Amino acid sequence: MDNKLVAKHIIPGEVWLDTDGTLIQAHGGGVLFHEGLYYWYGENKNGISRNARVDVIGVSCYSSSDLHTWKNEGIVLPAVTNDLEHDLNPRMVLERPKVIYNDTTRKFVMWMHIDSADYSYARAGVAISDSPVGPFEYIGSFRPNEQMSRDMTLFKDTDGKAYHIFSSEGNSTLCITLLSDDYLSPTTQYTRNFINNYREAPALFKHEGKYYIITSGCTGWSPNEAEYAVAENIMGPWKVIGNPCFGTDAETTFHSQGTYVLPIKGKSGAYIFMADRWKREDLKDSRYIWLPLQIKNNTIEIKWLNQWDLSYFNY
Ligand code: DGJ
Repeated sequence: MDNKLVAKHIIPGEVWLDTDGTLIQAHGGGVLFHEGLYYWYGENKNGISRNARVDVIGVSCYSSSDLHTWKNEGIVLPAVTNDLEHDLNPRMVLERPKVIYNDTTRKFVMWMHIDSADYSYARAGVAISDSPVGPFEYIGSFRPNEQMSRDMTLFKDTDGKAYHIFSSEGNSTLCITLLSDDYLSPTTQYTRNFINNYREAPALFKHEGKYYIITSGCTGWSPNEAEYAVAENIMGPWKVIGNPCFGTDAETTFHSQGTYVLPIKGKSGAYIFMADRWKREDLKDSRYIWLPLQIKNNTIEIKWLNQWDLSYFNY
């Protein structure tokens, strides 16, 4: 491996190469920690952008022990090119994949936003694998409890229960649904949150027993101001606090849109806010904005850093 290619830092907004020296393709992503390694899953957008969309290629996976250096584990859920009617056909939309591990079934479960090119299909898709690096087997898609499902994330709680959090009702409302014990389907238990507030790009995490959610506004690929809310119960009610970002460009989330909040293993109170700086005319070159997220007195703080590494959290 060429040493020059091994990233020693996180440089928000810069070109980020994997250990082969290739641009990382993991947009709208999320990270799973499993048996000592981090797995970063995201949209592979390594195609030609036409009218702000790229044909579906699949879900990429990268692995890392240090969160700087990422090894390409390949496309763990590829597009299905030979069936025009398939949800994963290149003509569709596959966004914001997230993976959680089910301790009982010992399966890795992926949920993702599946849509038609005009975003009218509005469904959640589910896939399953025996290994974090796939291959994932696609099970199918649906509208959870007959509700539209677009931007989404998953959250696995400390008690093993898992939740699907998604923009619904024409993106006007954010639904939170308890998943079945095997994580493969929604239960009928769900709540409607931020009604008529048009929130997208949900990223949910838990800190000292409280739940935090960061969302964006609804402005397509253009960045806007993030907002966060706190709750005692994941199903709500949620109390809106305000913008978690501070400093220059805080009003555009540093020209990006959130996708995930990653807890650093073994460091309590240390999180990374992961976001995408979308480039609608060339989506494959959309950059990653990863910044430290800290919570002081129940207040989230995300500040810009030109370059940083995990020693930031050595306090
Ligand atoms: C904003 C969403 O957050 C993205 O995931 C993507 O769906 C774009 N809208 C499409 O305009």
